[in-house]
Amino acid sequence: MSVRVRADLDSLPAYVAGRTVPGSTKLASNEVSRGPLPSVVEAVTHAAHRVHRYPDMGATELVDSLAKHLDVATERIAVGCGSVALCQQIVQALCSPGDEVVFPWRSFEAYPILTRVAGANEVRVPLTEDHELDPDALADAITDNTRVVFVCTPNNPTATTLHERQLEEFLSRVPSDVLVVLDEAYREFVDDPQAPDGVEFTRRWDNVACLRTFSKAYGLAGLRVGYAVAPPHVAEALRKVYIPFSVNAVAQAAAVASLEAGDELERRCAEVISERTRVRDRLLELGYRVPPTQANFVWLPLGERTGAFNEHCLNNRVVVRAFPGDGARVTVGTPEENDILLSAAASFSG
Ligand SMILES: Cc1ncc(COP(=O)(O)O)c(C=O)c1O
Repeated sequence: MSVRVRADLDSLPAYVAGRTVPGSTKLASNEVSRGPLPSVVEAVTHAAHRVHRYPDMGATELVDSLAKHLDVATERIAVGCGSVALCQQIVQALCSPGDEVVFPWRSFEAYPILTRVAGANEVRVPLTEDHELDPDALADAITDNTRVVFVCTPNNPTATTLHERQLEEFLSRVPSDVLVVLDEAYREFVDDPQAPDGVEFTRRWDNVACLRTFSKAYGLAGLRVGYAVAPPHVAEALRKVYIPFSVNAVAQAAAVASLEAGDELERRCAEVISERTRVRDRLLELGYRVPPTQANFVWLPLGERTGAFNEHCLNNRVVVRAFPGDGARVTVGTPEENDILLSAAASFSG
């Protein structure tokens, strides 16, 4: 007889990471192409000299810097090994087996996995025909068993954002004992003035948490650090289920330095925003349907043609993220990388 592993894990969907194909341009993981912010590399090198020591378990300097940067109390902040870890910590801290986690679908593919790992039940709520979150349908899906609702805005992979007014209306329908998690992994790329600022919502609503990450705009995906702003007792619960030392010392130092590099971040985001407009406009010109994007990627709802588009891109040395039968998500890279994608898109006839 062999060691028994939980039988239900067999039915878990696998998390599919964007592929890296040597010699090809990778536009599959919503990373930024230009690397960490220049001033941050020095902080990383400096921190590397001290990696024989355990990291600061409370990430004190980082939490203090975030508190100052966001103007929130330290007790409302929790850090995690990437914001995906914080998603998991939230479900672990709030859900018992049988409780429900509501989320839009299609959305960030970790939500169903970590819900089921925690023994909770997933409730998927379809997007609208315009590939947007459907706040009314999300509110309708809440039951007495719901503990958490993930609201991914801008939504991965469709890139659309909710507006403040929609979010206010939605929140007014959510029971006060259900936590609404605004997953804002792409917040730094948002330029729509009507889009919500999750941190502001956490000031006004006692059942709202906001997740952000250093992986995307800040270019630290390989170091793994994100944070939550949450009601104090929720932040405390997140710290309780935190795997000790999982935000490593180099990541902490890099995140602190990143918060001090505001000008560099702004220049970087400005380039992504201008490139995403160029990429989307050209794709529309080529006849593709492309929902408006507030993130560093575009969504091509190609349906049954997704597989063929993916193959065609691979043959043209560009890797996109395909969701078979549904669509392809393409990260906005440098102008040169985007040109490679656009030329592949232009020659696709599938
Ligand atoms: C919506 C969303 N949330 C969270 C994450 C997790 O990012 P990380 O764990 O790198 O902070 C991602 C990454 O792709 C994402 O798209």
